[in-house]
Amino acid sequence: MGMSAKILFIGDVVGGLGKRTLFALLPSLRERHEPDFVIVNGENVAGGTGITPRVADQMFAAGVDVITLGNHTYRQREIYPYLDRETRILRPANFLRRQPGHGSCVVTSGDVRLGVVSLSGNLFMDPGRPAFAEADAALSDLRNRIDHLLVDMHAEATSEKVAMGWHLDGRVTAVLGTHTHIPTADQRILPGGTAYQTDVGMSGPYDSVIGVEKELVLHRFLTGMPGKFEAAKGNPKMCAALIECDPNTGRASSIQGIMLGE
Ligand SMILES: [Fe+2]
Ligand SMILES: [Fe+2]
Repeated sequence: MGMSAKILFIGDVVGGLGKRTLFALLPSLRERHEPDFVIVNGENVAGGTGITPRVADQMFAAGVDVITLGNHTYRQREIYPYLDRETRILRPANFLRRQPGHGSCVVTSGDVRLGVVSLSGNLFMDPGRPAFAEADAALSDLRNRIDHLLVDMHAEATSEKVAMGWHLDGRVTAVLGTHTHIPTADQRILPGGTAYQTDVGMSGPYDSVIGVEKELVLHRFLTGMPGKFEAAKGNPKMCAALIECDPNTGRASSIQGIMLGE
């Protein structure tokens, strides 16, 4: 530990509009904040569910360092071999070991080594293995190879995300929540020095129900009948968290929530 760095983390990118918004806004965000690392949750980028190799390649080409995923990881079959061979794309570490892909990686910028861990909550989700035990295992695996560590806690329940923040406080640089697509206003540095936010919020269409075309969701609520969901197209915004790493402690010195319209 002992290196300064800035991390820009962008919440769940939803559909083509989310992707276009990300690519449109990333250059100016980079210019303004000069992040050393850019991490993007890409679990909804392929039409709302999953990701394809082509889109993942586009994101890396746009300067994204690490892509994290979540419960929609396996929606697009063509990504399976890509998940096994590309080290910088992560599915939750607490999925079953035999499932394609891996849950953590280390990336470098200059002399700074950043570990990234993807986790899935267990409440109302079905990742196969327990998140809290896996978090501890990932930490002991990475500890000697990194200066900073960011955890994407992809979970439905706010309680489970808050609990993970406390569990890892003082041991990692940041615990950021994803999956619920609604940015929360609780960014803070926990007493042990870990940056925390319950949900970073999605990057995509905000005239929607968490990214889905609102008429389709309302139809389901009103009629109780199933129907096809599609990513919405209105009111694009990009949500992110900017974390400044404390060079003296390996923890965080600040966290700032960012929401930008196109
Ligand atoms: Fe999700
Ligand atoms: Fe999502």
